[in-house]
Amino acid sequence: MKRPIVEVASIGKYTPAKVLSNADLEKMVDTTDAWIRERTGIAERRIADDSETLAFMSKQASLDALSRAGVSPEELDVIVLGTASPDRLLPSTACELQAELGATNAAAFDIGAACSGFLYGLTVAEGMIYAGQAKNVLVVGGERLSRIVNYEDRATCILFGDGAGASLVRPVTDSSNRGVLSSYLKSDGRLAELLYRPGGGANEPPSEKMLQNGSYFLHMAGREVFKHAVKCMADACAQALDSAGLSRDDVDLMIPHQANIRIIESTAKHSGIPMERVMVNVDRYGNTSAASIPIALEEALAEGRVGKGSVILLAAFGGGFTWASMVLRW
Ligand code: COA
Repeated sequence: MKRPIVEVASIGKYTPAKVLSNADLEKMVDTTDAWIRERTGIAERRIADDSETLAFMSKQASLDALSRAGVSPEELDVIVLGTASPDRLLPSTACELQAELGATNAAAFDIGAACSGFLYGLTVAEGMIYAGQAKNVLVVGGERLSRIVNYEDRATCILFGDGAGASLVRPVTDSSNRGVLSSYLKSDGRLAELLYRPGGGANEPPSEKMLQNGSYFLHMAGREVFKHAVKCMADACAQALDSAGLSRDDVDLMIPHQANIRIIESTAKHSGIPMERVMVNVDRYGNTSAASIPIALEEALAEGRVGKGSVILLAAFGGGFTWASMVLRW
């Protein structure tokens, strides 16, 4: 097995207090609590209020991660923020986060890899550290999806929620083999229109027509996305385990992107990992896209499901399509 060079030193999270339950959604669109639970496993999701911008939520999660790692904002070399719902199209939310943290010595940029954004960010951090270009890298996955979801479309609005997670990534600090054992990234841009926002960018700038047809909202072909998500995440798990020189039996906990309980169960089944060793919190947060893996990892640590020495398999899938995986020893 390879000796790790880079470690995920700490993790932090922030989730808004406001809860949007299935019962609330029953009053907004033609749906039922039973349908949502059966098809998605989701019972409730968190929704940001007006003051909870993406930069704000990311800052709270980052402060958590930084204090747990004992690193100050001034010591950061790079801030990478994965999101599909930036506060503004220009500049990056990472730059806004940098200013709010006072991370005056850092370079900051966003990554657009949708739900895979956190794992893409971790892998970029790993590469920059490996290349000697950075020591302390803050990787954030955050979303304010409630601002880009159409609450009149029952096929999408039941799925998504808001939140942020963050981690401090740095060169390994001890010889206990703690750190990133392997990572894997992949995309297929030919499938972009199965999960996308058609309007609002430079291709289709804001217009009266756009407001009427709702093209700035998130659009999704649910069934197609479902099939690809399972296939790609299962493949990503196999790739990361293979390059770490580990088997599925070595995995203490698998933390898949929290999109839908049926996607999670099918991915676990394809990967041969029993559900007792799979983290699930989609019931309480819905799909928080780039924030889902760091929020789930933070909770797994807090609940004692993983600890020092645990082998953790992370896997993500999202719009693009993008998918990714990583094996960590905590
Ligand atoms: N409540 C009640 N009925 C609903 C509904 C809702 N919220 N949303 C859709 N339906 C209806 C559909 O209109 C359709 O009705 P019809 O048969 O009369 O046409 C029926 O339910 C079945 O729709 P379908 O889209 O085939 O359902 P599904 O079993 O595929 O479940 C999703 C829909 C969205 C839950 C599911 O496809 C899914 O989770 N896909 C992946 C989405 C995802 O995770 N995206 C992010 C990836 S990172």
